[in-house]
Amino acid sequence: MTRRLQNRIALITGASRGIGAAVAERFAAEGAHVVLVARTRGGLEDVDDRIRAALDLGTDADSPVTLLELDLTDLDAVDRIGPSIAQRFGKLDIVVGNAGLLGEMSPMHHIDAKVWTDVVDVNLNANWRLIRTTDPLLRQSDAGRAVFVTSGAAHGKRPYWGAYAVTKAALEMMVTCWAAETEKTAIRINLLDPGATRTGMRADAYPGEDPATVKPPEDLADAFVDLCSPSCDRHGDVVRAY
Ligand SMILES: NC(=O)c1ccc[n+]([C@@H]2O[C@H](COP(=O)([O-])OP(=O)(O)OC[C@H]3O[C@@H](n4cnc5c(N)ncnc54)[C@H](OP(=O)(O)O)[C@@H]3O)[C@@H](O)[C@H]2O)c1
Repeated sequence: MTRRLQNRIALITGASRGIGAAVAERFAAEGAHVVLVARTRGGLEDVDDRIRAALDLGTDADSPVTLLELDLTDLDAVDRIGPSIAQRFGKLDIVVGNAGLLGEMSPMHHIDAKVWTDVVDVNLNANWRLIRTTDPLLRQSDAGRAVFVTSGAAHGKRPYWGAYAVTKAALEMMVTCWAAETEKTAIRINLLDPGATRTGMRADAYPGEDPATVKPPEDLADAFVDLCSPSCDRHGDVVRAY
């Protein structure tokens, strides 16, 4: 079988569960070394275990997984990601900015200030820091790729979607600007809107919904591989996976 991400170094945020975990597992199966970012050590270790089991790796085998336990609201820590990846691997080929926070579903004027700040930090500011710290490495790659995960909430009228909708709209503009600035390079940068997907965030947003009626995160893995493989020629698009 041809492995489409063979020997690529891929950084994936929000990889302890949900969409990020499914992307991490699929990228490793496609031959990538995955650097997984999240706060929850146990969740990251579970993903690592599943990857090792799927690849049938013994305990002594070199692992294709690096765990980076990090809170993305610690923006200075995000700044250190690029230099530490450069030191450890000497290169970076793929960035998946997937981590996201829903925050409070409530009227604008009722949103708690700390919740507002956390959502803006995780969904927007951390992704800007990620762009800043990884851009030099992606430029050195023969086929640097970046995908940021957006949402339909970025568009239209979204009462009570608060900071989440605001940050996804801003994320789309930020990533579109970066893509326009890198048009003449080998880097390809896109946004992916996964649509309704069976995760903890979806259950929080739609508590009355039967999860069985929503697609599992694994169904999105192909779309991420397409956008991150060296053969991808899309750039500056918002790809809708539905
Ligand atoms: N599920 C859907 O239907 C849907 C639809 C449209 C868009 N999306 C987008 O898809 C992306 C993934 O969402 P999901 O549904 O998979 O959500 P999820 O299951 O809640 O997972 C969110 C991930 O983000 C990480 N994260 C949150 N806050 C963090 C922080 N402060 N520092 C580091 N990591 C943090 C979480 O890890 P820790 O808690 O371990 O830190 C977790 O790995 C998000 O950007 C979301 O907006 C989802």
